Amino acid sequence: MAGDIRIERMTEAHVEGFYRALDIVARERKYLTLLEAPPLEDTRKFALSSIGRGNVHLVALDGGEVVGWCDIRRHFFPSQAHCASLGMGLLPSWREQGLGKRLIEAAIEGARTAGMVRIELGVHADNPRAIQLYERVGFVREGVSRDAFCVDGEYTDVINMALTFRQV
Ligand SMILES: CC(C)(COP(=O)(O)OP(=O)(O)OC[C@H]1O[C@@H](n2cnc3c(N)ncnc32)[C@H](O)[C@@H]1OP(=O)(O)O)[C@@H](O)C(=O)NCCC(=O)NCCS
Repeated sequence: MAGDIRIERMTEAHVEGFYRALDIVARERKYLTLLEAPPLEDTRKFALSSIGRGNVHLVALDGGEVVGWCDIRRHFFPSQAHCASLGMGLLPSWREQGLGKRLIEAAIEGARTAGMVRIELGVHADNPRAIQLYERVGFVREGVSRDAFCVDGEYTDVINMALTFRQV
């Protein structure tokens, strides 16, 4: 049951589980830019260095198994360091039970606490479940990158969405 799932900050102990979950979702070839996870050691280096820089990396845990993740990573250049990019995914059998909402809300709170101001993401136009979730937690559509994703000769638009904590 999704209610029994714990959401925790990712540590080195979760890297292999994160790698497995990322690889499974990537190989679905529908939702993520990656079509497979980078090699385990590259994934480890990337995740631990990102965590070390203060980015938000959360995992959803069923006992010891990583069943989902959400990360929010700051942009590099000083003029964009208030901006961050969000990525997330759940293993197929854990979807549509409210877990995505718990995970993203916890990650957004982590980003706010870390002083991030704007969170951006790109979502495939044919992923209504993810779009609904993002709108539900406050993301708005800012534009469309036409034909930006292409797998097996099929082109898909990518919807650019963002959430900003700044009150103008
Ligand atoms: C996208 C994802 C993280 C969403 O998490 P989830 O746990 O499945 O979603 P939740 O159960 O928390 O809720 C999603 C919302 O979408 C709605 N929804 C579910 N299926 C839907 C569908 N086919 N069309 C439209 N909305 C749908 C739900 O009703 C819910 O909205 P509500 O709170 O207004 O009722 C998860 O499904 C997933 O990992 N998908 C595959 C990977 C992916 O798409 N990653 C994001 C890439 S940008």
